[in-house]
Order: sequence, then C-alpha cells, then structure tokens
Amino acid sequence: MTIAVCPGSFDPLTLGHVDVVRRARSMFDEVVVGIARNSSKHALLDVAARVEVARAALADLDGVRVEVVDGLLADFVRDVGASAIVKGLRGGADFDAELPMALMNRHLTDVETVFVVGDPALAHIASSLVKDVARFGGPIDDLVPGGVAVAVREALGGAR
Ligand code: PNS
Repeated sequence: MTIAVCPGSFDPLTLGHVDVVRRARSMFDEVVVGIARNSSKHALLDVAARVEVARAALADLDGVRVEVVDGLLADFVRDVGASAIVKGLRGGADFDAELPMALMNRHLTDVETVFVVGDPALAHIASSLVKDVARFGGPIDDLVPGGVAVAVREALGGAR
C-alpha cells in the first residue's frame, strides 16, 4: 500500500488544495493531509478549526484522511509510513519556496517530494489571498469548499 502526505498550513483549505489532494490520491493508495504550523506565518484559524473544516470538506474522498502534524513534518511522514510528500505548484514562485523544504525533508528522512501541477483554472487561489479578500468583505465562496467560507468569516469576526 502506497501512502503520501499532503502537508500544508491549510489556513484555510482552498479548492486548489482539494485539487492537489485529488491528484495525489490518483497516484497513491492513501493520502494523509497533514495540517502543520508554519512558523513563518501568523494563522487566522487555529489548528483545530483548520482540521475540522478540512475533514468536512474532504469527507467524500475515499482513502483521504486529515491529521495534525505536531512537530517536524519529516517525523510525521515517517510515523504514518508514507513514501512521499506531495505538493502542488501554481508557478515558479511556488517552486522556489518548495525546493528548500523538499531538500531539507529529504536530508532529514530521505523522503521524496513529488510536485504536481494543479488545475490552471485554480492557479489564482492562495489561502493568503482568500483571507485578504474576505477581510475586505469580498466573496470567497467560489474559492474554498463549502463550510470553509463560514469558518473564515467567523474567525474574522462574523462581520463579513
Ligand atoms: O502551506 P505551507 O505554509 O506552505 O506549508 C509549509 C509547511 C507547514 C508544510 C511547513 O512549514 C512544515 O513542514 N512545517 C512543519 C514543521 C517542519 O517540519 N518544518 C521544517 C520544514 S522543511
């Protein structure tokens, strides 16, 4: 049985993330979506809320589960028995950000990182932009799965 980890902050999970998880699942028997803390980002949703909305959004995908990465991603990958980390690329900036992490994770555990190219129709979607649009009262319902928009608006104070 092949297992992959799709790691990320998922603050919040977007339709772009769901696309990458689906692509990962088409290549691996099981996909573990690992929700981690990125020490260089200030999160809007706490980890428990991110897990709750991601579990609801991905509940219809067989062979996909959502877990918290509590510590180093490399340790999590080893603990769940995964053979690869799968991340999505929207463009060159993503690659520049991802390559150092892929190299570090391979240094730490010898795990491979597999990059998948997401649906270009979703390439404009980034969690940071979703939060910014919502913060200024813009519509995010066609950028994130149902339920996520509600959680984001609530976290912003329910006034949006
Ligand atoms: O969605 P992001 O913020 O680009 O994902 C980055 C993330 C959360 C996967 C990365 O920061 C991470 O792996 N954090 C867990 C702690 C860790 O292992 N840090 C070293 C990464 S090489």
